[in-house]
Amino acid sequence: MRKTSVVSEAEIQEQQAFCEKVFSVISKRYEGKPLACVVTYGCQQNVADSEHIKGMLAEMGYGFTEEREQAKLIIFNTCAVREHAEDRVFGNVGALKSYKRQNPDVIIACCGCMMQQQHIADRIKQSFPFVDLVFGTHVVYKLPELLYAALTRKKRVFELPDMDGVIAEGVPVLRDNDRKAWLPIMYGCNNFCTYCIVPYVRGRERSREAQVIIDEARELIAQGYKEITLLGQNVNSYGKDLEPRVTFAELLRRIAALDGDFRIRFMTSHPKDCTNELLEVMASCDKVAKHLHLPFQCGSSRVLKAMNRGYTREQYLDRINYAKRLMGDELSLTSDIIVGFPGEIYEEFCETLSLVEEVKFTSLFTFIYSPRRGTPAAEMDDPVPYEEKAKWIGELIALQERISAENLQKYAGCVFKCFVTGRGKLGDNYFSARTDGNLIIEFEGDESLIGSFQTIKVTEPLTYVLKGELIERN
Ligand code: 5AD
Ligand code: SF4
Repeated sequence: MRKTSVVSEAEIQEQQAFCEKVFSVISKRYEGKPLACVVTYGCQQNVADSEHIKGMLAEMGYGFTEEREQAKLIIFNTCAVREHAEDRVFGNVGALKSYKRQNPDVIIACCGCMMQQQHIADRIKQSFPFVDLVFGTHVVYKLPELLYAALTRKKRVFELPDMDGVIAEGVPVLRDNDRKAWLPIMYGCNNFCTYCIVPYVRGRERSREAQVIIDEARELIAQGYKEITLLGQNVNSYGKDLEPRVTFAELLRRIAALDGDFRIRFMTSHPKDCTNELLEVMASCDKVAKHLHLPFQCGSSRVLKAMNRGYTREQYLDRINYAKRLMGDELSLTSDIIVGFPGEIYEEFCETLSLVEEVKFTSLFTFIYSPRRGTPAAEMDDPVPYEEKAKWIGELIALQERISAENLQKYAGCVFKCFVTGRGKLGDNYFSARTDGNLIIEFEGDESLIGSFQTIKVTEPLTYVLKGELIERN
Protein backbone atom coordinates (compact mmCIF):
# COMPACT_ATOMS: atom_id res chain seq x y z
CA MET A 1 0.00 0.00 0.00
CA ARG A 2 1.17 3.51 -0.84
CA LYS A 3 1.71 5.60 2.27
CA THR A 4 1.05 8.99 0.65
CA SER A 5 -2.37 10.58 0.03
CA VAL A 6 -3.02 11.24 -3.62
CA VAL A 7 -5.70 13.73 -4.64
CA SER A 8 -8.46 11.82 -6.43
CA GLU A 9 -9.28 12.32 -10.09
CA ALA A 10 -12.77 13.45 -9.08
CA GLU A 11 -11.27 16.28 -7.00
CA ILE A 12 -9.05 17.37 -9.90
CA GLN A 13 -12.12 17.37 -12.19
CA GLU A 14 -13.98 19.44 -9.62
CA GLN A 15 -11.23 22.05 -9.93
CA GLN A 16 -11.61 21.90 -13.70
CA ALA A 17 -15.27 22.80 -13.22
CA PHE A 18 -14.23 25.75 -11.05
CA CYS A 19 -11.96 26.95 -13.90
CA GLU A 20 -15.07 27.32 -16.04
CA LYS A 21 -16.91 29.13 -13.26
CA VAL A 22 -14.03 31.58 -12.83
CA PHE A 23 -13.96 32.10 -16.59
CA SER A 24 -17.61 33.04 -16.60
CA VAL A 25 -17.15 35.51 -13.69
CA ILE A 26 -14.07 37.24 -15.11
CA SER A 27 -15.39 37.49 -18.63
CA LYS A 28 -18.35 39.48 -17.28
CA ARG A 29 -16.37 41.50 -14.77
CA TYR A 30 -13.41 42.65 -16.85
CA GLU A 31 -13.20 44.19 -20.28
CA GLY A 32 -11.17 41.92 -22.59
CA LYS A 33 -8.88 39.15 -21.38
CA PRO A 34 -7.73 39.95 -17.81
CA LEU A 35 -4.01 39.63 -17.10
CA ALA A 36 -2.38 37.88 -14.16
CA CYS A 37 1.05 38.61 -12.71
CA VAL A 38 2.69 35.74 -10.82
CA VAL A 39 5.69 36.84 -8.75
CA THR A 40 7.93 33.98 -7.60
CA TYR A 41 10.51 34.02 -4.80
CA GLY A 42 12.89 31.31 -3.65
CA CYS A 43 13.85 27.90 -4.92
CA GLN A 44 13.08 25.91 -8.10
CA GLN A 45 10.30 24.06 -6.31
CA ASN A 46 8.49 27.38 -6.08
CA VAL A 47 9.25 28.09 -9.73
CA ALA A 48 7.67 24.72 -10.58
CA ASP A 49 4.62 25.49 -8.40
CA SER A 50 4.24 28.84 -10.17
CA GLU A 51 4.23 27.03 -13.52
CA HIS A 52 1.25 25.02 -12.26
CA ILE A 53 -0.42 28.18 -10.96
CA LYS A 54 0.01 29.73 -14.42
CA GLY A 55 -1.29 26.54 -16.05
CA MET A 56 -4.48 26.74 -14.00
CA LEU A 57 -4.85 30.49 -14.61
CA ALA A 58 -4.52 29.95 -18.37
CA GLU A 59 -7.37 27.41 -18.16
CA MET A 60 -9.46 29.97 -16.30
CA GLY A 61 -8.97 32.46 -19.13
CA TYR A 62 -6.22 34.74 -17.80
CA GLY A 63 -3.40 36.12 -19.93
CA PHE A 64 -0.06 37.07 -18.34
CA THR A 65 2.01 40.17 -17.66
CA GLU A 66 5.19 40.98 -15.76
CA GLU A 67 3.83 44.43 -14.89
CA ARG A 68 1.94 44.41 -11.61
CA GLU A 69 0.02 47.56 -12.47
CA GLN A 70 -1.44 46.01 -15.62
CA ALA A 71 -2.75 42.96 -13.80
CA LYS A 72 -6.23 42.13 -12.54
CA LEU A 73 -4.77 39.33 -10.46
CA ILE A 74 -1.42 39.48 -8.64
CA ILE A 75 -0.11 36.37 -6.92
CA PHE A 76 3.01 36.36 -4.72
CA ASN A 77 4.44 32.86 -4.41
CA THR A 78 6.67 33.31 -1.37
CA CYS A 79 9.77 31.75 0.26
CA ALA A 80 10.39 31.35 4.00
CA VAL A 81 13.94 30.07 4.04
CA ARG A 82 15.56 33.32 5.21
CA GLU A 83 14.31 36.54 6.76
CA HIS A 84 15.56 38.65 3.88
CA ALA A 85 13.20 36.88 1.45
CA GLU A 86 10.28 37.47 3.82
CA ASP A 87 11.08 41.17 4.20
CA ARG A 88 11.05 41.59 0.43
CA VAL A 89 7.61 40.02 0.21
CA PHE A 90 6.17 42.31 2.89
CA GLY A 91 7.69 45.31 1.11
CA ASN A 92 6.35 44.32 -2.31
CA VAL A 93 2.88 43.38 -1.08
CA GLY A 94 2.70 46.63 0.95
CA ALA A 95 3.58 48.62 -2.16
CA LEU A 96 0.29 47.51 -3.78
CA LYS A 97 -1.93 49.18 -1.21
CA SER A 98 -2.73 52.28 -3.27
CA TYR A 99 -3.03 50.29 -6.54
CA LYS A 100 -5.70 48.16 -4.88
CA ARG A 101 -7.47 51.26 -3.49
CA GLN A 102 -7.64 52.77 -6.98
CA ASN A 103 -8.58 49.43 -8.60
CA PRO A 104 -10.86 47.56 -6.22
CA ASP A 105 -11.64 44.93 -8.89
CA VAL A 106 -8.03 43.69 -8.69
CA ILE A 107 -7.43 40.49 -6.69
CA ILE A 108 -4.25 40.22 -4.64
CA ALA A 109 -3.18 36.77 -3.46
CA CYS A 110 -0.26 35.35 -1.47
CA CYS A 111 0.81 31.71 -1.32
CA GLY A 112 3.90 29.57 -0.80
CA CYS A 113 6.08 28.62 2.17
CA MET A 114 5.90 31.93 4.00
CA MET A 115 2.09 31.84 4.13
CA GLN A 116 2.12 28.34 5.56
CA GLN A 117 3.40 29.83 8.85
CA GLN A 118 0.54 30.87 11.11
CA HIS A 119 2.23 34.04 12.42
CA ILE A 120 2.75 35.30 8.86
CA ALA A 121 -0.83 34.55 7.79
CA ASP A 122 -2.00 36.39 10.94
CA ARG A 123 0.14 39.40 10.06
CA ILE A 124 -1.31 39.48 6.53
CA LYS A 125 -4.81 39.20 8.00
CA GLN A 126 -4.26 42.13 10.37
CA SER A 127 -1.88 44.49 8.59
CA PHE A 128 -2.58 43.89 4.89
CA PRO A 129 -6.39 44.09 4.63
CA PHE A 130 -6.19 44.58 0.85
CA VAL A 131 -4.89 41.03 0.33
CA ASP A 132 -7.93 39.02 -0.81
CA LEU A 133 -6.64 35.47 -0.88
CA VAL A 134 -4.01 33.56 1.10
CA PHE A 135 -3.38 29.87 0.49
CA GLY A 136 -0.79 27.41 1.75
CA THR A 137 1.57 24.95 0.08
CA HIS A 138 -0.77 21.94 0.34
CA VAL A 139 -3.72 23.39 -1.58
CA VAL A 140 -2.12 24.91 -4.68
CA TYR A 141 -4.17 22.54 -6.84
CA LYS A 142 -7.34 24.10 -5.37
CA LEU A 143 -6.56 27.54 -6.79
CA PRO A 144 -9.61 27.55 -9.13
CA GLU A 145 -12.00 26.96 -6.21
CA LEU A 146 -10.22 29.46 -3.95
CA LEU A 147 -10.05 32.15 -6.61
CA TYR A 148 -13.73 31.64 -7.39
CA ALA A 149 -14.50 32.20 -3.70
CA ALA A 150 -12.30 35.34 -3.61
CA LEU A 151 -14.03 36.73 -6.72
CA THR A 152 -17.59 36.05 -5.62
CA ARG A 153 -17.62 36.28 -1.81
CA LYS A 154 -17.49 39.53 0.11
CA LYS A 155 -15.11 37.92 2.61
CA ARG A 156 -11.35 37.44 2.34
CA VAL A 157 -10.27 33.82 1.77
CA PHE A 158 -7.62 32.11 3.95
CA GLU A 159 -6.97 28.44 3.20
CA LEU A 160 -4.00 27.11 5.14
CA PRO A 161 -4.55 23.54 6.24
CA ASP A 162 -1.80 22.20 8.48
CA MET A 163 -1.16 18.70 7.14
CA ASP A 164 1.49 16.24 6.00
CA GLY A 165 0.73 17.07 2.36
CA VAL A 166 -0.70 15.33 -0.68
CA ILE A 167 0.25 14.60 -4.27
CA ALA A 168 -1.89 16.16 -6.98
CA GLU A 169 -1.44 14.75 -10.49
CA GLY A 170 -3.05 16.14 -13.62
CA VAL A 171 -2.82 19.83 -12.66
CA PRO A 172 -2.29 21.94 -15.80
CA VAL A 173 1.15 23.46 -16.30
CA LEU A 174 2.42 26.43 -18.30
CA ARG A 175 6.20 26.27 -18.48
CA ASP A 176 8.36 29.41 -18.53
CA ASN A 177 10.82 27.99 -21.04
CA ASP A 178 10.37 25.71 -24.07
CA ARG A 179 13.79 24.01 -23.87
CA LYS A 180 14.41 23.66 -20.11
CA ALA A 181 11.87 21.99 -17.84
CA TRP A 182 11.53 21.51 -14.09
CA LEU A 183 10.18 18.11 -13.16
CA PRO A 184 9.24 17.66 -9.48
CA ILE A 185 9.70 14.05 -8.36
CA MET A 186 8.92 14.46 -4.67
CA TYR A 187 7.70 17.02 -2.19
CA GLY A 188 8.39 17.83 1.47
CA CYS A 189 11.27 17.01 3.77
CA ASN A 190 11.70 14.74 6.81
CA ASN A 191 15.17 15.82 7.84
CA PHE A 192 14.48 18.62 10.28
CA CYS A 193 17.88 20.27 10.07
CA THR A 194 17.71 22.48 13.15
CA TYR A 195 17.97 25.80 11.26
CA CYS A 196 15.46 25.00 8.53
CA ILE A 197 11.78 25.94 8.20
CA VAL A 198 11.12 23.75 5.14
CA PRO A 199 9.89 20.58 6.94
CA TYR A 200 7.33 22.72 8.81
CA VAL A 201 5.92 24.42 5.74
CA ARG A 202 6.24 21.74 3.04
CA GLY A 203 5.12 18.69 5.01
CA ARG A 204 6.45 15.14 4.97
CA GLU A 205 8.41 13.53 2.15
CA ARG A 206 6.19 12.08 -0.53
CA SER A 207 7.17 10.73 -3.93
CA ARG A 208 5.35 10.78 -7.23
CA GLU A 209 4.93 7.37 -8.87
CA ALA A 210 8.00 6.49 -10.97
CA GLN A 211 5.93 5.68 -14.06
CA VAL A 212 4.13 9.04 -13.91
CA ILE A 213 7.49 10.85 -13.78
CA ILE A 214 8.97 8.79 -16.60
CA ASP A 215 5.90 9.39 -18.79
CA GLU A 216 6.13 13.13 -18.13
CA ALA A 217 9.84 13.11 -19.00
CA ARG A 218 9.12 11.21 -22.22
CA GLU A 219 6.46 13.73 -23.17
CA LEU A 220 8.80 16.66 -22.46
CA ILE A 221 11.47 15.13 -24.68
CA ALA A 222 8.91 14.59 -27.46
CA GLN A 223 7.95 18.26 -27.14
CA GLY A 224 11.59 19.25 -27.74
CA TYR A 225 12.79 19.91 -24.18
CA LYS A 226 16.57 19.49 -23.96
CA GLU A 227 17.24 19.93 -20.27
CA ILE A 228 15.11 18.30 -17.61
CA THR A 229 15.87 19.02 -13.97
CA LEU A 230 14.43 16.57 -11.46
CA LEU A 231 13.39 18.45 -8.34
CA GLY A 232 12.96 17.62 -4.69
CA GLN A 233 14.08 19.01 -1.34
CA ASN A 234 16.10 15.86 -0.94
CA VAL A 235 15.96 13.77 -4.11
CA ASN A 236 18.07 11.00 -2.55
CA SER A 237 15.13 10.07 -0.32
CA TYR A 238 12.97 9.52 -3.41
CA GLY A 239 10.79 6.43 -3.34
CA LYS A 240 10.99 5.56 0.36
CA ASP A 241 7.18 5.82 0.53
CA LEU A 242 6.56 3.86 -2.69
CA GLU A 243 5.50 0.25 -2.83
CA PRO A 244 7.42 -1.42 -4.44
CA ARG A 245 10.27 0.83 -3.50
CA VAL A 246 12.16 2.63 -6.31
CA THR A 247 15.46 4.32 -5.45
CA PHE A 248 16.43 7.69 -6.88
CA ALA A 249 19.36 6.06 -8.68
CA GLU A 250 16.95 3.63 -10.35
CA LEU A 251 14.60 6.44 -11.40
CA LEU A 252 17.50 8.38 -12.85
CA ARG A 253 18.72 5.33 -14.75
CA ARG A 254 15.25 4.75 -16.21
CA ILE A 255 14.87 8.36 -17.36
CA ALA A 256 18.38 8.39 -18.82
CA ALA A 257 17.43 5.32 -20.86
CA LEU A 258 14.70 7.23 -22.74
CA ASP A 259 15.34 7.94 -26.42
CA GLY A 260 16.24 11.43 -27.59
CA ASP A 261 18.81 14.19 -27.39
CA PHE A 262 18.50 15.61 -23.87
CA ARG A 263 20.28 16.09 -20.52
CA ILE A 264 19.01 15.31 -17.05
CA ARG A 265 19.98 17.27 -13.98
CA PHE A 266 18.75 16.94 -10.41
CA MET A 267 18.65 18.90 -7.21
CA THR A 268 18.97 18.88 -4.25
CA SER A 269 20.95 15.92 -2.95
CA HIS A 270 21.55 15.36 0.75
CA PRO A 271 25.04 14.05 1.59
CA LYS A 272 23.74 11.65 4.23
CA ASP A 273 21.98 9.50 1.65
CA CYS A 274 24.02 10.15 -1.46
CA THR A 275 24.62 6.48 -2.30
CA ASN A 276 27.41 4.84 -4.29
CA GLU A 277 24.66 3.57 -6.60
CA LEU A 278 23.56 7.14 -7.40
CA LEU A 279 27.12 8.29 -8.16
CA GLU A 280 27.68 5.22 -10.33
CA VAL A 281 24.51 5.90 -12.33
CA MET A 282 25.62 9.51 -12.75
CA ALA A 283 29.02 8.39 -14.00
CA SER A 284 27.74 5.72 -16.36
CA CYS A 285 24.75 7.44 -18.04
CA ASP A 286 25.73 9.86 -20.80
CA LYS A 287 22.49 11.77 -20.53
CA VAL A 288 22.98 12.64 -16.87
CA ALA A 289 24.87 15.92 -16.50
CA LYS A 290 28.03 15.50 -14.44
CA HIS A 291 26.96 18.15 -11.99
CA LEU A 292 26.44 17.36 -8.32
CA HIS A 293 24.91 19.99 -6.06
CA LEU A 294 25.72 18.58 -2.63
CA PRO A 295 25.17 21.11 0.18
CA PHE A 296 27.52 20.56 3.11
CA GLN A 297 26.45 23.68 5.10
CA CYS A 298 29.49 23.69 7.41
CA GLY A 299 32.97 22.12 7.55
CA SER A 300 32.95 21.42 11.29
CA SER A 301 31.61 18.06 12.49
CA ARG A 302 30.56 19.59 15.82
CA VAL A 303 28.42 22.23 14.06
CA LEU A 304 27.05 19.63 11.62
CA LYS A 305 25.83 17.64 14.63
CA ALA A 306 24.16 20.74 16.10
CA MET A 307 22.55 21.28 12.70
CA ASN A 308 21.24 17.67 12.75
CA ARG A 309 22.71 17.03 9.32
CA GLY A 310 23.41 13.34 9.85
CA TYR A 311 27.02 13.24 8.54
CA THR A 312 30.49 14.35 9.59
CA ARG A 313 33.07 16.34 7.65
CA GLU A 314 34.91 13.08 6.88
CA GLN A 315 31.78 11.34 5.59
CA TYR A 316 31.04 14.32 3.34
CA LEU A 317 34.56 14.27 1.93
CA ASP A 318 34.26 10.53 1.38
CA ARG A 319 31.21 11.12 -0.88
CA ILE A 320 33.03 13.87 -2.78
CA ASN A 321 36.14 11.76 -3.25
CA TYR A 322 34.14 8.80 -4.53
CA ALA A 323 32.33 11.07 -7.02
CA LYS A 324 35.66 12.55 -8.16
CA ARG A 325 37.16 9.08 -8.52
CA LEU A 326 34.28 8.05 -10.80
CA MET A 327 33.93 11.22 -12.86
CA GLY A 328 37.32 12.97 -12.68
CA ASP A 329 37.64 16.37 -14.33
CA GLU A 330 34.25 16.04 -15.96
CA LEU A 331 32.55 16.47 -12.57
CA SER A 332 31.32 19.86 -11.45
CA LEU A 333 30.56 20.29 -7.75
CA THR A 334 28.47 23.03 -6.14
CA SER A 335 27.25 23.47 -2.60
CA ASP A 336 25.26 25.53 -0.07
CA ILE A 337 26.94 26.91 3.04
CA ILE A 338 25.53 28.57 6.14
CA VAL A 339 27.91 30.94 7.92
CA GLY A 340 27.40 31.79 11.60
CA PHE A 341 25.15 29.00 12.83
CA PRO A 342 24.35 29.67 16.54
CA GLY A 343 27.41 28.89 18.65
CA GLU A 344 29.77 28.49 15.68
CA ILE A 345 33.18 29.95 16.53
CA TYR A 346 35.77 31.37 14.12
CA GLU A 347 37.95 28.24 14.32
CA GLU A 348 34.96 26.14 13.22
CA PHE A 349 34.24 28.53 10.38
CA CYS A 350 37.90 28.04 9.34
CA GLU A 351 37.05 24.34 8.89
CA THR A 352 34.50 25.47 6.29
CA LEU A 353 37.25 27.45 4.55
CA SER A 354 39.59 24.47 4.54
CA LEU A 355 36.89 22.17 3.16
CA VAL A 356 36.21 24.66 0.34
CA GLU A 357 39.95 24.83 -0.35
CA GLU A 358 40.16 21.04 -0.49
CA VAL A 359 37.11 20.23 -2.66
CA LYS A 360 37.45 22.99 -5.29
CA PHE A 361 33.79 23.63 -6.04
CA THR A 362 32.74 25.22 -9.34
CA SER A 363 30.59 27.70 -7.41
CA LEU A 364 28.89 28.14 -4.04
CA PHE A 365 25.67 29.50 -2.60
CA THR A 366 26.60 31.14 0.70
CA PHE A 367 24.20 32.41 3.35
CA ILE A 368 24.47 34.06 6.75
CA TYR A 369 22.41 32.10 9.26
CA SER A 370 18.91 33.51 9.60
CA PRO A 371 16.83 32.49 12.64
CA ARG A 372 13.47 30.93 11.68
CA ARG A 373 10.70 31.02 14.25
CA GLY A 374 9.70 27.57 15.51
CA THR A 375 12.98 25.83 14.59
CA PRO A 376 15.31 24.46 17.33
CA ALA A 377 18.25 26.65 16.23
CA ALA A 378 16.21 29.82 16.79
CA GLU A 379 16.25 28.95 20.53
CA MET A 380 20.03 28.42 20.68
CA ASP A 381 22.51 30.97 22.05
CA ASP A 382 23.87 33.04 19.17
CA PRO A 383 26.60 35.29 20.60
CA VAL A 384 28.51 36.21 17.41
CA PRO A 385 27.25 39.58 16.09
CA TYR A 386 25.91 39.84 12.54
CA GLU A 387 28.76 42.21 11.50
CA GLU A 388 31.30 39.55 12.48
CA LYS A 389 29.43 36.89 10.46
CA ALA A 390 29.37 39.30 7.52
CA LYS A 391 33.20 39.47 7.71
CA TRP A 392 33.43 35.67 7.76
CA ILE A 393 31.21 35.27 4.71
CA GLY A 394 33.32 37.91 2.93
CA GLU A 395 36.39 35.72 3.52
CA LEU A 396 34.56 32.69 2.17
CA ILE A 397 33.37 34.49 -0.97
CA ALA A 398 36.88 35.83 -1.68
CA LEU A 399 38.33 32.34 -1.32
CA GLN A 400 35.77 30.86 -3.72
CA GLU A 401 36.39 33.65 -6.25
CA ARG A 402 40.07 32.75 -6.28
CA ILE A 403 39.28 29.02 -6.66
CA SER A 404 36.70 29.62 -9.42
CA ALA A 405 39.21 31.63 -11.43
CA GLU A 406 41.93 28.97 -10.91
CA ASN A 407 39.48 26.20 -11.86
CA LEU A 408 38.72 27.85 -15.17
CA GLN A 409 42.37 28.03 -16.22
CA LYS A 410 42.58 24.26 -16.65
CA TYR A 411 39.93 24.30 -19.40
CA ALA A 412 42.00 26.22 -22.00
CA GLY A 413 41.85 24.23 -25.25
CA CYS A 414 39.16 21.78 -24.03
CA VAL A 415 36.23 20.91 -26.28
CA PHE A 416 32.71 20.60 -24.81
CA LYS A 417 29.29 19.69 -26.09
CA CYS A 418 27.17 22.47 -24.57
CA PHE A 419 23.63 23.68 -24.46
CA VAL A 420 23.20 27.22 -25.86
CA THR A 421 21.09 29.13 -23.32
CA GLY A 422 20.80 32.66 -24.74
CA ARG A 423 22.62 35.90 -25.48
CA GLY A 424 26.02 36.46 -23.87
CA LYS A 425 27.51 39.42 -22.05
CA LEU A 426 30.91 39.72 -23.71
CA GLY A 427 29.63 41.53 -26.80
CA ASP A 428 26.67 41.99 -29.17
CA ASN A 429 27.17 38.81 -31.17
CA TYR A 430 28.20 36.67 -28.20
CA PHE A 431 26.05 33.79 -27.03
CA SER A 432 26.15 31.86 -23.79
CA ALA A 433 26.33 28.08 -23.52
CA ARG A 434 26.46 25.76 -20.53
CA THR A 435 28.48 22.56 -20.26
CA ASP A 436 27.13 19.49 -18.49
CA GLY A 437 29.26 20.46 -15.54
CA ASN A 438 27.63 23.91 -15.42
CA LEU A 439 30.55 25.91 -16.82
CA ILE A 440 29.54 28.93 -18.86
CA ILE A 441 31.21 29.42 -22.26
CA GLU A 442 30.61 32.54 -24.33
CA PHE A 443 31.19 32.35 -28.09
CA GLU A 444 30.35 34.26 -31.27
CA GLY A 445 27.26 32.91 -32.98
CA ASP A 446 23.71 33.72 -33.99
CA GLU A 447 20.16 33.53 -32.59
CA SER A 448 19.35 30.27 -34.37
CA LEU A 449 21.72 28.39 -32.03
CA ILE A 450 19.70 29.14 -28.88
CA GLY A 451 18.14 25.99 -27.43
CA SER A 452 20.45 23.53 -29.23
CA PHE A 453 23.51 21.48 -28.25
CA GLN A 454 26.74 22.67 -29.95
CA THR A 455 30.42 21.71 -29.87
CA ILE A 456 32.59 24.54 -28.57
CA LYS A 457 36.33 24.85 -27.94
CA VAL A 458 37.60 26.98 -25.06
CA THR A 459 39.96 29.66 -26.37
CA GLU A 460 40.49 31.81 -23.29
CA PRO A 461 39.51 31.28 -19.64
CA LEU A 462 38.39 34.59 -18.06
CA THR A 463 37.61 35.10 -14.35
CA TYR A 464 34.02 33.89 -14.23
CA VAL A 465 33.32 32.55 -17.71
CA LEU A 466 35.20 30.83 -20.48
CA LYS A 467 35.56 32.36 -23.94
CA GLY A 468 35.30 29.87 -26.78
CA GLU A 469 34.60 29.28 -30.44
CA LEU A 470 32.07 27.15 -32.25
CA ILE A 471 33.97 24.36 -33.91
CA GLU A 472 31.14 22.27 -35.24
CA ARG A 473 27.59 23.31 -35.95
CA ASN A 474 25.15 20.53 -35.00
N1 5AD B 1 19.50 30.51 7.42
C1 5AD B 1 20.38 30.62 6.39
N2 5AD B 1 20.38 29.78 5.35
C2 5AD B 1 19.46 28.78 5.36
N3 5AD B 1 19.24 27.79 4.48
C3 5AD B 1 18.20 27.05 4.92
N4 5AD B 1 17.75 27.54 6.09
C4 5AD B 1 18.53 28.62 6.39
C5 5AD B 1 18.56 29.53 7.46
N5 5AD B 1 17.72 29.45 8.48
C6 5AD B 1 20.07 27.58 3.28
C7 5AD B 1 20.74 26.20 3.30
C8 5AD B 1 19.98 25.44 2.27
C9 5AD B 1 19.61 26.55 1.29
C10 5AD B 1 18.50 26.21 0.38
O1 5AD B 1 19.25 27.61 2.14
O2 5AD B 1 22.09 26.39 2.92
O3 5AD B 1 20.73 24.43 1.67
FE1 SF4 C 1 15.88 22.08 5.09
FE2 SF4 C 1 17.60 20.14 5.76
FE3 SF4 C 1 15.25 19.52 4.55
FE4 SF4 C 1 17.19 20.77 3.16
S1 SF4 C 1 17.33 18.70 4.09
S2 SF4 C 1 14.99 21.30 3.19
S3 SF4 C 1 18.13 22.10 4.70
S4 SF4 C 1 15.50 20.42 6.59
